[in-house]
Amino acid sequence: MGRVVLGMLGLGTVGTGVVKLLGQQRHLQLKKVAVRDKLKQRDIVLPCAVTDDPLQVIDDPEIEVLIEVMGGEKPALDHMLRAIEQRKHIVTANKEVLAKHGPELFELARRKGVAIFFEASVAGGIPLISTIQKGLEANKISSVAGILNGTTNFILSSMEERGESFARALEVAQSLGFAEADPTADVEGFDVAYKLSILSALAYGRFARPESIFRQGIRDISAEDMASAREFGYRIKLVGCTAGGEDSLSVRVHPTLVPLAHPLAAVSGSNNGILVTGHAVGEIVMVGPGAGQMPTASAVVGDIINLASALQLPDFASYFQAAIQPEWACVLPPGMWRCPFYLHLKVSDSPGVIGQIGTIFGLRRISIQSIVQRGSRQGGADIVILTHAAVSSDMDGALSELSKCAFMQGLASCIRIWQEPDKTSADR
Ligand SMILES: NC(=O)c1ccc[n+]([C@@H]2O[C@H](COP(=O)([O-])OP(=O)(O)OC[C@H]3O[C@@H](n4cnc5c(N)ncnc54)[C@H](OP(=O)(O)O)[C@@H]3O)[C@@H](O)[C@H]2O)c1
Repeated sequence: MGRVVLGMLGLGTVGTGVVKLLGQQRHLQLKKVAVRDKLKQRDIVLPCAVTDDPLQVIDDPEIEVLIEVMGGEKPALDHMLRAIEQRKHIVTANKEVLAKHGPELFELARRKGVAIFFEASVAGGIPLISTIQKGLEANKISSVAGILNGTTNFILSSMEERGESFARALEVAQSLGFAEADPTADVEGFDVAYKLSILSALAYGRFARPESIFRQGIRDISAEDMASAREFGYRIKLVGCTAGGEDSLSVRVHPTLVPLAHPLAAVSGSNNGILVTGHAVGEIVMVGPGAGQMPTASAVVGDIINLASALQLPDFASYFQAAIQPEWACVLPPGMWRCPFYLHLKVSDSPGVIGQIGTIFGLRRISIQSIVQRGSRQGGADIVILTHAAVSSDMDGALSELSKCAFMQGLASCIRIWQEPDKTSADR
């Protein structure tokens, strides 16, 4: 194999891991790395030039492959577009850019005859993308669902194991380096939405616009909900799912009560766990580290080695180009899918309340599986309800009706319960 010359944008957590792993690959030469601050102390001795001008990397004619591990939307997008214009292949870990600009990037890459590799952008060290792209190519994928964010899984696992509040579990995650100082992207589900957009492109040929993806974060999950879910035989996880076909998709991320015996319930700490269902293979489960320096670098360097080994072949890029359409996917509105619900209501402790709740639900075809009053507190009582599968728009209507009732003091939680993705269609 001939020598392949690489340039890299970014030398943070992932970039540093990439340099460490590249040291073991003699045929790969890292020529230049761009950073924001050239004078910053680094954990490694670099075997190449460092610059604070990304264009010195992108425009270097000797560099054939650009590794983009700087993150963020801009200027990363402009740098990638510029490199593709110059017919350079891209290896990136940047889920945000792919999710927001995937159609444009892949269309340009197709026209310029270059490949974009992005294994590290979803599920870090787990080879999920190559599995869907190549290993499961013979399948019609009906769903990809799972735990796609290690930070939130770490927080939810701590809350459950130690009975901690969300705020305390977040603080611990931050002190251990599992959560950013600004945790919004993780805890509000943006990070998972970006990954679902990419998974939609792989499984169904079209990216899902991040804004069209239903997103509910974990900030409102209480230690009480965790304990209550456990009593009913569930564990709360932040689950993302894309399901459907070429016509329309249901794409969503929200906290989910997962039955204790389900494979996703066993995914603990900062791990990720994903279920892929294909018509021929059935269901496969992949579990492993979804982030972190070396697991993510493992995915990036795996992509580089794959790319480098194919570079000499004629027209190899088309083999590696995912069959992604330039149009966005049609994403169904969230009201259209159905699943069972867990509800925690705060009500006044007066006679007839449970009967009135039953009537409101019954009028909207929502059938109650279990209803429990959690004792009385001063001025009221807590009621926990588990429903059978209900259409989301019916549940929205019932909750709006309940909010107008004099006995209602507040909706403490409304959390969806796991439903096999192929049973979530609202057609009844
Ligand atoms: N960390 C993970 O576990 C993980 C897992 C999967 C995917 N990813 C993805 O990998 C990418 C990188 O993440 P990271 O955690 O390594 O980020 P990071 O630690 O914040 O590192 C970012 C690097 O990019 C450089 N940089 C930022 N803006 C720049 C600019 N305008 N010009 C030149 N250099 C610039 C920074 O330079 P300075 O060092 O000078 O500040 C730094 O070296 C992101 O897309 C992220 O989503 C990360």
